[in-house]
Amino acid sequence: MSAPQLLTTIRATRAALERKRAGGLTVAFVPTMGALHEGHLSLVRRARELADTVVVSIFVNPLQFGAGEDLDAYPRTLDADIEALAAEGVDFVFAPTAREMYPAGASSTMVTAGHIGTLLEGATRPGHFDGMLTVVAKLFNIVNPDVALFGQKDAQQVFLVRRMVADLNLPLDLEIVPTVREADGLALSSRNRFLDEGARQAALALSAALQAADAAAGDGLVELLAEATASFGDHDAVTLDYLVVVDPATFLPVDEHFRGRAIALVAARVGATRLIDNASITIG
Ligand code: PAJ
Repeated sequence: MSAPQLLTTIRATRAALERKRAGGLTVAFVPTMGALHEGHLSLVRRARELADTVVVSIFVNPLQFGAGEDLDAYPRTLDADIEALAAEGVDFVFAPTAREMYPAGASSTMVTAGHIGTLLEGATRPGHFDGMLTVVAKLFNIVNPDVALFGQKDAQQVFLVRRMVADLNLPLDLEIVPTVREADGLALSSRNRFLDEGARQAALALSAALQAADAAAGDGLVELLAEATASFGDHDAVTLDYLVVVDPATFLPVDEHFRGRAIALVAARVGATRLIDNASITIG
C-alpha cells in the first residue's frame, strides 16, 4: 500500500480534495489527535468502505485542553501514525501546526456546546467541548467531507458533534463506530500508554463497572448504579469521577422511572491518567 500524501497546509488540503471531488470521488474524514491505535484504525477501515478518498487529520488541538491538562504530555507519534495509515490505504493525512490552524494564536470565534457541554466531561474539563467543536467545525470546513467518522468511545463528543451538525446545517453525514477494546475489556485510548502494569489492571474497573451496569439493567436504575459502583470499590488505585446513566436523546441523566435504551458513562482517574468509557444498556 502506498504512503498517504502528507498535507500540512489548509490551502494544499483544500486543493487536493477539490481535485478529488471534481473527479466525482467521495470523501470520508477521520479527525484524530494521533498516537493512533486499533480504535482509530477501526474508524479508518470503516471510512475506506464508505468513500473513494480517505482523509485522516492528526492535530493535537490546544483549544480543547485546559490549563494543567496533558497538552504537552499528549503522545505525538507522527511517523508511526503515517506508517499505520499507509497500511490502511489512507489517501491523505492532514497534520497542520497549531500556527496553521490558529494563526492569531487563539480563535476569537468559538462554537459553544451549550448546557450539555458543561456536564460530565465538560464539568471536569471546562471549555473542552467548545474547543473540540470549534476545531471539528474548522476541520469540516477545510476537508469538506461527505462523511465524517467518530468513535462511540467518546459518547458525549458524539452527541455534541451530532447536534452541531444538525444545529448548523453542516452538509455531511456522520458515521459512529463501536468502541474497540482489549481482550480483557479495557477500551483502547491514546492515554493507556501512560498506565504501568498495576494501573493497567486497576483501569479494568471502568469496563467492569459498565458490565455490572449492563448485568443489573433489568433491575432498574437504583440497583444498576449500586452494582456498578460496587464493582469499582474493589480497586483502590482508581478514583471514580462519575458513573451516570443518560438518555441518548438528551444526554441528561435518567431518573428511576426511565425504561429503554440508555448510555452508562464512567470516568475515573487511575494515578495521574484520566480515563472514560461507556456502554449502551437497556433499562427495564
Ligand atoms: P482522539 O482522541 O484522537 O480520537 C479520534 C477518534 O477516535 C474519536 O472519534 C474517538 O472517539 C475515536 N476513538 C478513540 N478511541 C477509540 C476506541 N477505543 N474505539 C473506537 N473509537 C475510538 O477525539 C478526538 O481525538 C478529538 O476530540 C478530535 C475529534 C480529533 C477533535 O480534536
